Amino acid sequence: MARSIRFEGKVVFITGAASGIGRACAERYAAEGARLYLCDINEAGLDDTQSSLATEVHTRVLNVSQSGECRDAIADCIERYGQLDVLCNIAGIAMTHHFHDIDDEAWDRIVGINLSSVMYLSRAAIPHLKESRGNIVNLASIAGVMGQAYTSAYCATKAAVVMLTKSIALEYAKAGIRCNALCPGGVQTPLVQKFSAPDDIDFTLMSRYMPLNDMAEADDAANSVLFLSSDEARHINGVALPLDGGVSAG
Ligand SMILES: NC(=O)c1ccc[n+]([C@@H]2O[C@H](COP(=O)([O-])OP(=O)(O)OC[C@H]3O[C@@H](n4cnc5c(N)ncnc54)[C@H](O)[C@@H]3O)[C@@H](O)[C@H]2O)c1
Repeated sequence: MARSIRFEGKVVFITGAASGIGRACAERYAAEGARLYLCDINEAGLDDTQSSLATEVHTRVLNVSQSGECRDAIADCIERYGQLDVLCNIAGIAMTHHFHDIDDEAWDRIVGINLSSVMYLSRAAIPHLKESRGNIVNLASIAGVMGQAYTSAYCATKAAVVMLTKSIALEYAKAGIRCNALCPGGVQTPLVQKFSAPDDIDFTLMSRYMPLNDMAEADDAANSVLFLSSDEARHINGVALPLDGGVSAG
């Protein structure tokens, strides 16, 4: 079978590239000819990702919850490459807690990392995506389309990412920009491997969104991100694509 090179000549900006789904995306885009601008708050992880890639790569330590840092990172990407074709907003954190126990600091942190980051980076990227007729892929979650016990803050941020995705898609469709979201269920990454919940939770409330069979791998998520951002999906805009083995089907 001929090797697929869908991103030759393209520049792809990825957050969360030090681990899990972001790293898997970096590897897949590199294999398909893209030049990469990789960001994460975890410098050592970014270095690990970069060392495995045989393409032009720039890395940047970035706290995605900081507006100015996001604006500067997009500007630096443009200065280095002169173009931006795909923005992948992948960085994120999860939290499990009783709704009534979340404090203001934890709320602000998850909103900043999971939601505000998507706004900051997309806002800075839009003028450049207009030039390239490029696109945005946001990592939302099935937690953004179905309510879940003990993860209310996470669900709220991911639902907002879904609506931000659809709104951007509509507003910029005529400018040639697409914006889509991927909504995974469980994916085997450090995010779920670190999962811990309060001792006294009622697990029967969580059975509704447990995987129906095996969990996805980071590569499964990367496959969908690459598809959504490729020309093969040129008529797909404003979707929140489930990648959950059927969990959210009914
Ligand atoms: N793993 C799953 O089951 C699952 C399911 C649905 C959605 N998602 C979403 O997929 C995305 C990637 O998650 P993952 O599973 O690969 O987790 P992961 O923990 O492996 O990767 C997340 C990355 O985000 C980075 N990050 C965290 N805070 C940051 C900050 N302030 N600034 C910059 N980078 C920061 C981390 O350093 C890490 O490299 C997240 O948005 C997550 O919510 C994951």
